[in-house]
Amino acid sequence: MEAGAERERSLIDTFGRQVDYVRLSVTDRCDFRCVYCMTEQMQFVPRQQVLTLEELHTVARAFVELGVRRIRLTGGEPLVRANVLHLVEQLGQLPGLDELLLTTNGNQLDKFAAPLRTAGVGRINISLDSLDEQRFRRISRVGKLSRVLAGIDAAIAAGFERLRINSVIMRGYNEDEVLPLTEFALERDLDIAFIEEMPLGEASEHDRASTTCSNAWVRRQIETRHVLFDSAVRTAGPSRYVQVAGRKSRIGFISPVTHNFCADCNRVRVTAEGRLLLCLGNEHSVDLRAVLRDPDRDFGDLKAAIIAAMQRKPERHHFYDGDHAQPVRLMNMTGG
Ligand code: GTP
Ligand code: 5AD
Ligand code: SF4
Repeated sequence: MEAGAERERSLIDTFGRQVDYVRLSVTDRCDFRCVYCMTEQMQFVPRQQVLTLEELHTVARAFVELGVRRIRLTGGEPLVRANVLHLVEQLGQLPGLDELLLTTNGNQLDKFAAPLRTAGVGRINISLDSLDEQRFRRISRVGKLSRVLAGIDAAIAAGFERLRINSVIMRGYNEDEVLPLTEFALERDLDIAFIEEMPLGEASEHDRASTTCSNAWVRRQIETRHVLFDSAVRTAGPSRYVQVAGRKSRIGFISPVTHNFCADCNRVRVTAEGRLLLCLGNEHSVDLRAVLRDPDRDFGDLKAAIIAAMQRKPERHHFYDGDHAQPVRLMNMTGG
């Protein structure tokens, strides 16, 4: 089939949802060990099982030829992958890709911000859960706040538009930082998204049922100081935004636990091992690496495998729904 016709067919699942956004994990490794994401002593995937940069590029090209318009590079931490800039440069040149995006912990952004921008990254989301050095260390287990703040400054200086802070608010860790984090974003004209903690794997000792804060609660904290109005603006992801009058920042709420947004789902994930994961909250997946490394199968087979996988995309996640089993996969294995 010629490329144009195939693009038109695009990726549509059995619930009529069009997939035009892929989250591509370039490594399961990370230079932090956040309590909601990883265990303290992590076993990472052996390197030969991780897709090569060339394989990652091939996967991205296949998706774009099938109508995907946005690719977000995730991890683990994408910036710990050796030569990641080379991949970014190549992806930045893929015809048909509208947005090349990155989610990072910010730890190495002081070094990478400018070259990422030159290579064609559009928007960057940077995780920041605390503005207190010791708290930051408690949540990330090993991270240094000053490094991330330097990374944020570098990203601002590099001229990125619509930089976004991602904050996971957890009772007993940082629930009193909703306002300071909001002010931090407002003062710098940054966007900020508050993310409800999801039950993905056993990352630490804490019982998520007691730490997860609803975004309705987070919003009320902000409303003690600011009048918020709903914004019609949408980014590619599930965030719903509000704004403060006269301010450029958008304040986003990603509420997978209290508001299921699966009906609008437009994305799939590819893990660092090349597993096409059809939903963050389910185990349905297809092994793309097996296709990539099979000498008897070619690029057309890879695209066919991706098209066929859409039939397996589940309708929704079931976080905290009674008897449903929760994923055992940790977030770093999932790809952000
Ligand atoms: P933009 O809207 O394009 O800025 O990106 P995004 O919010 O999709 O990207 P980001 O990597 O910043 O994602 C933030 C968090 O949103 C993720 O780490 C997840 O916790 C959550 N999220 C993103 N996509 C999904 C999804 O499909 N399902 C669920 N349950 N959560 C998601
Ligand atoms: N629940 C919610 N968000 C999580 N993240 C990692 N693990 C979880 C979880 N269990 C977030 C990080 C980062 C993004 C990539 O994913 O804070 O912003
Ligand atoms: Fe690393 Fe991000 Fe996971 Fe933290 S949340 S351990 S920064 S991948």
